[in-house]
Amino acid sequence: MIKKSIIKNNLISYKVKELSGMISPPADKSISHRALLFSALALGTSALSNLLRSEDVLNMVKALKALGVKITKRNNIYYVVGVGLCGFHSPKKYIDCGNSGTLARILLGAIGGSEILATLVGDTSLSSRPMDRVINPLKKMGIFFDSINNKLPLIVKGTNDILPIKYVSPISSAQVKTTILLAGLNARGTSEIIEPYSSRNHSENLLKYYGADIKYDTKRSGKNKVSITGGATLKSCNIIIPGDISSASFALIAATIIPGSYIKILNVGINYFRSGILEALGLMGANISLENKIINDYEEPLANIVVKYSKLKGINLDSSYSARMIDEYPILAIAAAVAKGKTKLSGLSELRHKESDRFMAIINGLENCGVKVESKKDDIIIYGNSEIAGGATIDCNFDHRVAMSFIVLGALSLKPIKVIGCESISTSYPTFISEMNSIGMDIRANEQ
Ligand code: S3P
Repeated sequence: MIKKSIIKNNLISYKVKELSGMISPPADKSISHRALLFSALALGTSALSNLLRSEDVLNMVKALKALGVKITKRNNIYYVVGVGLCGFHSPKKYIDCGNSGTLARILLGAIGGSEILATLVGDTSLSSRPMDRVINPLKKMGIFFDSINNKLPLIVKGTNDILPIKYVSPISSAQVKTTILLAGLNARGTSEIIEPYSSRNHSENLLKYYGADIKYDTKRSGKNKVSITGGATLKSCNIIIPGDISSASFALIAATIIPGSYIKILNVGINYFRSGILEALGLMGANISLENKIINDYEEPLANIVVKYSKLKGINLDSSYSARMIDEYPILAIAAAVAKGKTKLSGLSELRHKESDRFMAIINGLENCGVKVESKKDDIIIYGNSEIAGGATIDCNFDHRVAMSFIVLGALSLKPIKVIGCESISTSYPTFISEMNSIGMDIRANEQ
């Protein structure tokens, strides 16, 4: 079991004056997961700097150790001794994926190439999330699964005879794409994945850097095709992980909506396929600029983000944005709640399958705080209001991003907002309270 969270279950967020100063968001969770897993599949020792030390990522470390991978930490660098593409051992007991959908889903494709048997379990939230989206294509590649209703707990049995696949995915999901690519590393031939819109392409960038035979030219609009040919050996790499734009979004939006604020967010990964939030805020009239932009060794762009308070206006955001900012809708909804006029967010069906049903969490949470909201099918319409009543208690259902979003709203509500279930914040942003308080927020633990 991982150590109990240091973040208290219940937090209260009080109204504050302007935010100021500098903040470094935690390391990117998606890239941390991938760097660990790809290093485990490589030959040689990889060194990973600035790895995210959150519950989700530490569960990936434990999962890989259970599969026979040696991982050590010295001077804040994680060293992963790779076992090669088919080198995992059957774990002695089940693998606990905790709250992490990314861990569970991408591990399955990676395990598939080793002739082993493993059982994956997760917490209540993860055990209710759909796994058929990865099980279906992986079964076609020859990997065996046993589960009830295609959910965790599940048993996976790998094979040394992976079949290549041509898979047209009904959804744009980086987890689905990644798990097929990882299974494809061991296939005899070329596998191809097509998704409706490009999801984040961190796996493609990193797999290329590790030496996979991968072809992609991630499209900014329309369908995205990636292909991988099995047989290439992955080589160990040294990876420095950038800051996480999803975690940075809480400070980004807090500073945008709290009058008088002016902050700088350092070292943020701004990959186009992750940074739809910057574009959405730009359309709303936010005052955001990028400084010191660079592109790192594995083709991920990074920058410092300078944010000043600005009056926002409502927008219509169509479904083509959703893959590029899927995790940012709860916090974008907070910005929409204080913007002038109506904001329509479209194509949000995937929000129902996250750590909680975020579609309903946005609607119920905003209504509880006195904001007018409507929903139609997969769209949410938010009527902005310059004065937020607040005074609500929000049960985030152990969903870290919902918790952090309503804590941000509390910082400009007339009455404080209490959020319960905040220990979930440790899954992605263990230093959230101290970092946000250091730039001027007033978040306090509440024991009741
Ligand atoms: C992730 C992909 C997204 C995202 C999740 C992290 C990843 O999920 O919501 O937080 O690292 O691949 P989907 O692939 O289900 O869209």
